[in-house]
Amino acid sequence: MTLKIKSLNQYKKAYKKSVKDPEGFWAEQAATFKWKKKWRKTLQWEFKSPDVKWFVGGKLNITENCLDRHLKTRGDQVALIWEPNDPSQAYKEYTYKELHTEVCRFANVLKANNIKKGDRVCFYMPMVAELAIGVLACARIGAIHSVVFAGFSANALADRIKDATCKMVICSDFNARGAKNIPVKAVVDDALKMRCKSIETVLVHRNTGEKVKMKKGRDKWLHEELEGKRKTCKAEVMDSEDPLFILYTSGSTGKPKGVVHTCGGYMVYTSFSFKNVFQYEDGDVYWCTADIGWITGHSYIIYGPLLSGATTIMSEGVPTYPDAGRFWHICEKHKVNQFYTAPTAIRALMAKGDHWPTHYDLNNLKVLGTVGEPINEEAWNWYYDKIGKGKTPIVDTWWQTETGGIMISGMGDIHPLKATHAGFPLPGIQPCLVTPDGEEIKGNDVEGLLCVKFPWPSMIRTTYGDHERCRQVYFSAFEDMYFTGDGARRDENGMYRIIGRVDDVINVSGHRMGTAEVENAVNEHSNVVESAVVGYPHHIKGEGIYAYVITDGMVKDENKFRKEVLAVVTKEIGPIAKPDKIQLVSGLPKTRSGKIMRRILRKIASGDTSNLGDISTLLNPEVVEEVKKGAKVLLSNE
Ligand code: PRX
Repeated sequence: MTLKIKSLNQYKKAYKKSVKDPEGFWAEQAATFKWKKKWRKTLQWEFKSPDVKWFVGGKLNITENCLDRHLKTRGDQVALIWEPNDPSQAYKEYTYKELHTEVCRFANVLKANNIKKGDRVCFYMPMVAELAIGVLACARIGAIHSVVFAGFSANALADRIKDATCKMVICSDFNARGAKNIPVKAVVDDALKMRCKSIETVLVHRNTGEKVKMKKGRDKWLHEELEGKRKTCKAEVMDSEDPLFILYTSGSTGKPKGVVHTCGGYMVYTSFSFKNVFQYEDGDVYWCTADIGWITGHSYIIYGPLLSGATTIMSEGVPTYPDAGRFWHICEKHKVNQFYTAPTAIRALMAKGDHWPTHYDLNNLKVLGTVGEPINEEAWNWYYDKIGKGKTPIVDTWWQTETGGIMISGMGDIHPLKATHAGFPLPGIQPCLVTPDGEEIKGNDVEGLLCVKFPWPSMIRTTYGDHERCRQVYFSAFEDMYFTGDGARRDENGMYRIIGRVDDVINVSGHRMGTAEVENAVNEHSNVVESAVVGYPHHIKGEGIYAYVITDGMVKDENKFRKEVLAVVTKEIGPIAKPDKIQLVSGLPKTRSGKIMRRILRKIASGDTSNLGDISTLLNPEVVEEVKKGAKVLLSNE
């Protein structure tokens, strides 16, 4: 059994051991899994290149640990509950036995369609059970899955397909989401018109059943392919360090990068962190509301829970459909014990009124989790009081796509609770705060840039097809440290509070976005000469997107222009990247070397123009006054 920490004392002991003897600590955890061949060396690493390998020489298949391993002991236990968008439709349940069968059948479909170990398979799917099954089917045969959030545009999808040279796309016909019906297959068709030469097959899952165009020779119906497929499929032998999946995420520059996670370390860490953070007990029902298009869905809907033999729920819908009681209704219906969501959802539901949760029985809740962005005190208190009834611990889990698993967080009610504080590092995680010069800031009651100074099993190994970018983004800022891009405080008791990104990455409703990426999209509008995008405080989304735009002077109707810009951004990235505010300006404050002064723009967008610092050294200080005035008007229209 993986170590299950049950008290603060035990945590302290485990943490100490994990720092003193990391290899011993993780070898003990890893030994609790099913390996086809034991590793010969637990850890080999250096952060310069970087080159990190865990469980070197070990052979395994993660799906044998998610599924086969449980068949004897819990074959008839429910592994996955799928809750549909429409509450009047029946939910589906898969026992471990059934899930095993479905994964094997799907894996045989992949094989029959020429997918082999190491091939990349792209998923562009809503939250249907077939997505989870398909992902596991890839892992079964050693294909590398690359799930693209189904809210991204055809352009964004095409970029990701090309970057990973995927051989197959798996999608659905349509996506029923809230009151909307989104034509998923049509988006895939558009993407594939953009020179996605590597794609041989498109597998289409019949979801809503509406008519879609099928291209002969390329497009196949999943249900037809599944017909007569064998119910078993031999699990491919994978090396610990073979890639398991690629997941694209935004950075401060350039296009999104494909974060690569590998089989062995990811398996050990996601299971370990799941069990401990959520204090999962046999028989509990766990629900994470994330989308599998993001890392939270990978690690804590699919892998972590299934590796731990849990019952995990995936839900297709949105928090407010058909009404703002939907989450709580699902919690009551399935007697949810651990509930994990994002601050943006909490704020959105809080805004709908306190009465919604009171209509449902939430007494089964034992742990509440939050993830993806800093949680403000008001939302934390509402979650604690109205959902947790003042007695259910909140785990504020800080981590990233790159970290693979939760890094800093409470563990059930083991640690003291402190609103807005993620808390203490998990065993095996060695965070530190550094100055911009790379000097480690020791002691408590301090603030700095958040780094990690020792490897952990589920950390990023590379960025797909461009290892140098991985080195440059995460390992070049500070010597021998992984740099997170976040700023943090460590309070007088050593508890961490995440302040937010210190780079040009913004966090909109828990969705991570590069400002450069949005700027590039805005600049695609033919009247835009230059733009600068920053985040600004938003009462529901956490951060909103504020775009300052210089036009060519030919814009006659500003409102029409704004709408066109939104349409361009939707086309380039997707609706999640649409700016909330677009301000037309004649110039952008720049340094003498031509660099946009984002600090000033951020401050103005936040509505705070009290102290902009010394602007006299700017190339164009006169523009600041104009920008300030325009922002005041725009922000007063909230
Ligand atoms: O800024 C931090 C914020 O989300 C970023 C990572 O985003 P992503 O890779 O999309 O992963 C999100 C889900 C793991 C971080 O750099 N973030 C994540 N969790 C928290 C958070 N900020 C504050 N508190 C958190 N609990």
